[in-house]
Amino acid sequence: MSGYFYLHTMGCQMNKYDSELISGLLIKEGFKPAVSEQQADIVILNTCSVRALAAQKAYSYLGRLAKRKKKDKKLILVMSGCVAEQDGLEARDRIPGLDLVIGPSKIREIGKYLKETIRKKRGTIAVGDEGIDWKADPLIKRVSPSKAWITVSKGCNSFCSYCIVPYVRGRELSRPFEDILKEARELAAAGYSEINLLGQNVNTYGKDIPGHRDFSDLLKELASIEGRFRIFFMTSHPKDIPIKLIDTVAGSSKISPLFHLPVQSGSDRILKLMNRGYTRAGYQNNLKEIRSRVKGASITSDIIVGFPGETGEDFKETMELVSESGFDSAYTFKYSPRKGTAAAGLDDSVKQWEKEKRLEDLMALQASIGQKLNEALEGAVLEVLLDDPPYGKGGVTARTVSNKPVMLEKTGGLEAGARFVKVKITGATPFAVKGEPL
Ligand code: 5AD
Ligand code: SF4
Repeated sequence: MSGYFYLHTMGCQMNKYDSELISGLLIKEGFKPAVSEQQADIVILNTCSVRALAAQKAYSYLGRLAKRKKKDKKLILVMSGCVAEQDGLEARDRIPGLDLVIGPSKIREIGKYLKETIRKKRGTIAVGDEGIDWKADPLIKRVSPSKAWITVSKGCNSFCSYCIVPYVRGRELSRPFEDILKEARELAAAGYSEINLLGQNVNTYGKDIPGHRDFSDLLKELASIEGRFRIFFMTSHPKDIPIKLIDTVAGSSKISPLFHLPVQSGSDRILKLMNRGYTRAGYQNNLKEIRSRVKGASITSDIIVGFPGETGEDFKETMELVSESGFDSAYTFKYSPRKGTAAAGLDDSVKQWEKEKRLEDLMALQASIGQKLNEALEGAVLEVLLDDPPYGKGGVTARTVSNKPVMLEKTGGLEAGARFVKVKITGATPFAVKGEPL
């Protein structure tokens, strides 16, 4: 029983990690990766439901495959990820051709569910959060030979009023400390150049483990592993980022000085409605602490415009906050109501055109800030990590220690197999810098 599977991923880093895990687990069970969707007899779509548009895309992708299935009856269709968890049976009502609907907390048993589905020739719904058996994680099949992702915790306990994540990814659960260390040691020994630690909120890592060690302890241990690699982590919730974490980042050259600190809004009134647990002043105090303690710190953020009831005045406060904060980059979103969240009960009052206008203004502001910050780097000599071949679309690209994209011009002199190279920054765009290898 060995089918060829093709896996398509939508959404965030956590989903990309889950996809590498699904691949690893299926290969272990005797399934084989197909080179294209056309050649596969099992197609898996790992979905995202954080905004309505992402969920719609998932259904249109699967709808297209369901049409193919009408001719190609043996085709097995699998929906995994957050839309699967959220919609469960409803997903099968919408796409009757779906054979398996499997949520994030069940993917560690995907081999079992898939085999059962194929054997019984009937649809299976595997959703619900009964915790996780982390023992499956070392079977992950990594896509990149140089960059690795490790999930340090799953789920979220924050319940921001707009967010579906706590409902589809369940309560926060930390992966055991020693397991993470063991995996990181193996990655370092195998020559990985980058380890990315993922959690919905790394600040609270370990709290669910008796006698726990916290995320700073984990970072310190990881940074003491021998080898040439960089450590990144995300996300830190601004409501509870510990000074100990900031100092730990400051204390090691192996840990990237990049903090992804989503602010969401600059208006205290909206922050309260979002249930974010901090004020604009509290957020700005975090920035002050980070910048005074961490040399060369970079800060990135997420911002939502058009939350229910957001007035022109509220939005102005977001613009002011962005002007003052000097984010290296900001991911900006139009509010999208998600069924089952607290904010879904509020009137989605901001008109679509108004959301669009606010988004445009915000993006233009952030682009001008990014441009200035990047211009300030011109002339600097930085050590960058080359992306995996075949690199970016426009040629070779690389990343600075704070993950800023570097477009490399004149790459003739690069050694084959090189990873870390020194470059001189020669130019800037709002989202990247240009550089020449030395
Ligand atoms: N609408 C718009 N943006 C959202 N995000 C999360 N939920 C929603 C929603 N319902 C954004 C937040 C979060 C990022 C991952 O996605 O900014 O930080
Ligand atoms: Fe969603 Fe808030 Fe949890 Fe982030 S912290 S995943 S925005 S509920």
